Amino acid sequence: MFLDRAHSWPVRALPIGICMFGCRAEPHQSALHPAGPAAEAISLLWWVMFVAFSGVLVLVVILTLVAVFRAAPTYATDENSDEGVSARERKIGSRFIIGGGVVLPIAVTTPLLVYSLFTSTSLRTPQAEHTVEVVGRMWWWEVRYPEHKIIDANEIYIPANRPVRLELTSADVIHSFWVPRLHGKRDMIPGVKTIFWIQADRPGIYRGQCAEYCGTQHAKMAFVVIALADEDFDQWIRQRTQARPVPTADHRRGSDVFFSAGCAQCHAIRDTPAKANIGPDLTFVGSRHTLAAGTLPNNRGNLAGWLSNPQALKPGCKMPRTYLSPDDLLALVAYLETMK
Ligand code: CUA
Repeated sequence: MFLDRAHSWPVRALPIGICMFGCRAEPHQSALHPAGPAAEAISLLWWVMFVAFSGVLVLVVILTLVAVFRAAPTYATDENSDEGVSARERKIGSRFIIGGGVVLPIAVTTPLLVYSLFTSTSLRTPQAEHTVEVVGRMWWWEVRYPEHKIIDANEIYIPANRPVRLELTSADVIHSFWVPRLHGKRDMIPGVKTIFWIQADRPGIYRGQCAEYCGTQHAKMAFVVIALADEDFDQWIRQRTQARPVPTADHRRGSDVFFSAGCAQCHAIRDTPAKANIGPDLTFVGSRHTLAAGTLPNNRGNLAGWLSNPQALKPGCKMPRTYLSPDDLLALVAYLETMK
């Protein structure tokens, strides 16, 4: 009771206000804070439509209020008019019906239709130097860079300020690829390759999210696009295409656990005998920002928790529980952390 009174509405509103201000200051996933040319065109279209239809709404509300509050017409008992309505009133009425019901909607929607068609043509995939293949899976993202033979998951690296061509598909059900700050949504359909593109104006991290319900863990199917300056992107490619180091003596045990515990039956690590692709490729798992497609920050504690009992963190995912001894678990975590 005391707490209830202590938390009066200004006290409760304060954190919400701070949060809203904070979200404004650093938006990670808002289509209204575009960071690339496609998202800018979509955002501008949204604002134009918002302003135009807000104007229509205000007009309709005003007319409704006028109709409600104006004095009731005094019907002349004019023998020439039907139902007691004067000829003048009928003329005004029909003008309102034609003006408000035909002319106004055409005048408002036609320019918006033309503008939205121009916007959609400007969203066509441009010529692009880089291609990234993205496969939606329940519930993570397989990411391939065919020109460089790099395979990764849940993170898409792109050069900033350049269009990047995307080839989207799905391995199971329909997903939808959406990075709100870089472009609109695009469905990922099993058996179909859909061409799409993104471009980021500046280096930065842009969050993406599956935008089509695809099963119980649809909400935990996120990813990030990491845009790098040209020289950093080239450096990133060089680093990712080098031969993978052989595990040092310190990590040999973790590597042995990886193979003996059955991890290699679902996962791949480049330049090792692990070649399966049921789960994400783990060649660079140590450098990922998150685990389980945006579910947890990638750190030692979360990695150990995830490996022990993924079903507690993402129920229904394909990764089964593991029953490792604490020492084996720590060795496996230490080994996976070297995968950078
Ligand atoms: Cu994948 Cu929703």
